[in-house]
Order: sequence, then C-alpha cells, then structure tokens
Amino acid sequence: MAIREIISPENPILRKKAQRVTDFKDPKLQTLIEDMAETLEEAVGVGLAAPQVAISQRIIVVQLPDDEESREEYGADAGVLHVVINPEIARASDNMVSGVEACLSIPGLFGSVDRHDAITIKGQDRHGKPIRIKTRGWLARVFQHEIDHLDGILYVDRAKRIWKAEEMAE
Ligand code: NI
Repeated sequence: MAIREIISPENPILRKKAQRVTDFKDPKLQTLIEDMAETLEEAVGVGLAAPQVAISQRIIVVQLPDDEESREEYGADAGVLHVVINPEIARASDNMVSGVEACLSIPGLFGSVDRHDAITIKGQDRHGKPIRIKTRGWLARVFQHEIDHLDGILYVDRAKRIWKAEEMAE
C-alpha cells in the first residue's frame, strides 16, 4: 500500500469524465483501492475519488469518522469503508438540504452546497459484484460529492457560497 498524491484542479484529469471499470481481475485495481483508502485516512478526509489521485476511473471510497455523532446517525455503519465502483445515483429524494463541504483537492476552502437529502446508489463492489446503498444525511452528501468527481464536477461549481478556512475561524 502507498499514499498517492492528491492532485489539484490545475491538473486537467480532475475535470475529465472518468472511465467505467470493466476488468475486476486486474491486480492494479485492488492496489489502487488499497492506496485510495490509505490516502483518504492519511489526509483525514471522508471521501476520495480516483481522479483525485490522477486515475481517470469510476472508483470512489467513502468513510465517515467512527465518532459519536456518526454512530448516532448510522449505527454500526458509522466508520465503515465504502468502496463503490461505477457508482450511479439510482434514486434521489426531491428534498434538498444545504450543508458545508470541502475537498481534499482544494485545500483551505469551504462552501455551502445543496444536495439530495436521501439517495440510493447502485454500483459494484471491489470484486465486481452489484451493490446498492441506501443512505441519507451526511453520508448521502459525501457520496454525491464523490460521484460528481467522476464527471469532472467539483463542489465549488455547485456552491452557493464559498469561503476560506481562515474566515471560518473568525
Ligand atoms: Ni472532493
């Protein structure tokens, strides 16, 4: 396993539409997933998409902190590492909620973004088996942010307001 470099928007890969994964037997895929999980943990983030480590493939990893707040909301699922390949939003609530987001590719910024409150994601696990994840709240938000990365969309494109980290401390 290895920590991968997280690229910034100056790198055009972050703005490309990522390719679907078809070869689940490729050992490079499993290495990439392990590296993404490790990179996410090291960066103390909650989600990472493969284009953020300069790989234009439809792979995301999502992991909320296993703290009291997420345990209250998600129970035993709180600190689970979600790996979703070729994720798609199969269903989304009409109800939109506003919340604060940041991105490991754009350090030092925050923004408020409207997202669907509840979504169902379909995709494949790391071995290609079909999976469905139904979720809401913060976890649903993180999934929507990461799936956007696969289409070259950054949260700042959707944000109603953007501010710098130092402004938040004031
Ligand atoms: Ni991001």
